[in-house]
Amino acid sequence: MIPLSIPHLAGNEWNYVKECLDTGWVSTAGAYVGKFENAIAEFTGSLYAISCMNGTAGLHTAMNLLGIGSGDYVIAPNLTFVATLNAISYTKAEPLLLDIDPEDWQMDLDLLQRFLEVDTYLRDTACYLKKDDRRIAAIMPVHVLGNMCDMDRLAALADRYHLPVIEDSTEALGSTFRGRHAGTFGIFGTSSFNGNKIITTGGGGMILTQDEKLAAHAKHLTTTAKTDPMDYFHDEVGYNYRLVNVLAAIGLAQMEQLPGLIERKKHMDAFYRKRLDGVGDISFQRVTEGVDPNCWLFTFRTRRMRELLNYLNKRGVQSRPFWTPMNQLPMYRSLPYYTQSDHAAQVHATAISIPSSSGLTDGQLQEVVDTIKEFYRN
Ligand SMILES: Cc1ncc(COP(=O)(O)O)c(C=O)c1O
Repeated sequence: MIPLSIPHLAGNEWNYVKECLDTGWVSTAGAYVGKFENAIAEFTGSLYAISCMNGTAGLHTAMNLLGIGSGDYVIAPNLTFVATLNAISYTKAEPLLLDIDPEDWQMDLDLLQRFLEVDTYLRDTACYLKKDDRRIAAIMPVHVLGNMCDMDRLAALADRYHLPVIEDSTEALGSTFRGRHAGTFGIFGTSSFNGNKIITTGGGGMILTQDEKLAAHAKHLTTTAKTDPMDYFHDEVGYNYRLVNVLAAIGLAQMEQLPGLIERKKHMDAFYRKRLDGVGDISFQRVTEGVDPNCWLFTFRTRRMRELLNYLNKRGVQSRPFWTPMNQLPMYRSLPYYTQSDHAAQVHATAISIPSSSGLTDGQLQEVVDTIKEFYRN
């Protein structure tokens, strides 16, 4: 089987984990947590990086820190992994869905602009939905597959409408827009180190922010809001969202390899684009101008997606469909959805992800290409 997106653990993982086990520092205290946070901050150019147990917890924490809750809306794209919407739902706020651009698969900024101009109004320093006078508390762009939207334009719109930006940058570690790293544009950004991501800790996440006070509060809230090193005094409802030392140790080892992993992903992306160009009716995701993507998971569109999916999986080429749009899931069906022609549904019906594991050889990539070509010949 040629795997879709499996971990590549080829560096100091064993050494660092062994050190944790040898010294007994496996849990919530230990030096690797800080070292991993520093490595992420340094790599992304973020002033602060606060680790947490997964990307979902990071998104949830970001919204908690902004006081987002019951009665609020948070704008999110309709095509994302379900965790984006779940995190919004945990706060009791309601997601307000926006369609995506059919070419780059990110939130459609033309649609966003029209929506803000036509359907919202400003009062004091907040934005409200005209229909029901409820506050729109934040906007959450998702950097789908490591691509991004035009972040300058998004930031300008967000500024004009007083909308804090929380970036779901869980898939975009290493991606940049005009030289600046994903996750550092918004008031918060988030990373995920889930098993299929560009680096992994098994499970883990990181909250990025450029604000010292918010960073301190994020650390506080994710570590049970304890105020005293000795006494068990907690000054708010905190969370046990910590990333443990043994996982941070894996994370540090992975960070040491990240530049090489990104290089490998870019090579794969170029390999696939060159050899699949013009094959069948295949079309690729457009990379937004100004974005240098991490090329995390190679995905393309074809009208024969279902057939191709079965064909590849039967032949040991592990492939996956794209996320079901949020408005098609039972718990999110009745959410407000702003769209003109439901591009999210069209992309979902046609997109397929193919093997992009960092450890794949060029020979394996060629096998994937040959199997796809064989499918279109039949
Ligand atoms: C777009 C998106 N948002 C959120 C998440 C949640 O991250 P995690 O699985 O670390 O909770 C993921 C990854 O799994 C994701 O791909």
